[in-house]
Amino acid sequence: MEKVLIITGGSKGIGKGIIDAYLANGVQIFSVSRSVNAELSKNGITQIELDLTHTDKLEAEFLKIFSLLDKESLSKITLINNAGTLGKIGPLEKLDAETIDKTIRLNTTVPFILSSLFIKYFRAWEAKKSIINITSGAALKPYFGWSVYCASKSAINMLTQTIAVEQADVKNGVKVLAIAPGVVDTDMQTEIRKSSKEDFKDIDRFVELKADGALNNVLTVGRKIFEMDHDYSLENGAILRVEGD
Ligand SMILES: NC(=O)c1ccc[n+]([C@@H]2O[C@H](COP(=O)([O-])OP(=O)(O)OC[C@H]3O[C@@H](n4cnc5c(N)ncnc54)[C@H](OP(=O)(O)O)[C@@H]3O)[C@@H](O)[C@H]2O)c1
Repeated sequence: MEKVLIITGGSKGIGKGIIDAYLANGVQIFSVSRSVNAELSKNGITQIELDLTHTDKLEAEFLKIFSLLDKESLSKITLINNAGTLGKIGPLEKLDAETIDKTIRLNTTVPFILSSLFIKYFRAWEAKKSIINITSGAALKPYFGWSVYCASKSAINMLTQTIAVEQADVKNGVKVLAIAPGVVDTDMQTEIRKSSKEDFKDIDRFVELKADGALNNVLTVGRKIFEMDHDYSLENGAILRVEGD
């Protein structure tokens, strides 16, 4: 029986760490991001190059992936909405309309659309089905300079809880989790550390975490997310956090 992972933003960072964990467990993987990672191609991962903010293309591209799967032989399928961005860091009045729109589209609109397509397409399939939304501690705590990021991740938490309510009475429904990965050593953190104190008041804390070697690493985070996906004791709709080792 086959297990499948479909992930957004697998080309680097946390997405790449998640892919490594699923790959080590024999899962067939499809990753969608703007660029292709040569190492992943060598490992037999199917990579689709797409700017996800072009939301008019999502249905056609994801139905193409879904149509490659075999209903009879699939035992588990997971969709991980991982691609995300901080957008521009700075107080709201400094942000332009296009950045606000694109950030919310990638962080929030895309997971809504992909979750909708996933639930609809696989409704009558016997396989175990799960959606994991990669959220952030910033969904629960306002940070100066991150208004769009905080709000877009907060929406993902509520999406997670709402899907769980809607799936509660569905036969073989979708299990959905929101998982915050902690502070992880990726390009996103490099971007954060480049901000000015004027645009991001908490910068010192993030610089210190890096200097102290306190950031989570992508391989550990990937492994823990794999384990959470396979932990059937977790409640549907749970908002979880990866703790460091
Ligand atoms: N790092 C942290 O400390 C941290 C903490 C909490 C939550 N998170 C969340 O974890 C997730 C991954 O973050 P990360 O730190 O791994 O970030 P990252 O290193 O910047 O990676 C982001 C991934 O998303 C893809 N991506 C970005 N924009 C895209 C677009 N328009 N279309 C398609 N793909 C796109 C990138 O691929 P391409 O560039 O090839 O498109 C890349 O694979 C995000 O949702 C983030 O909010 C991160």
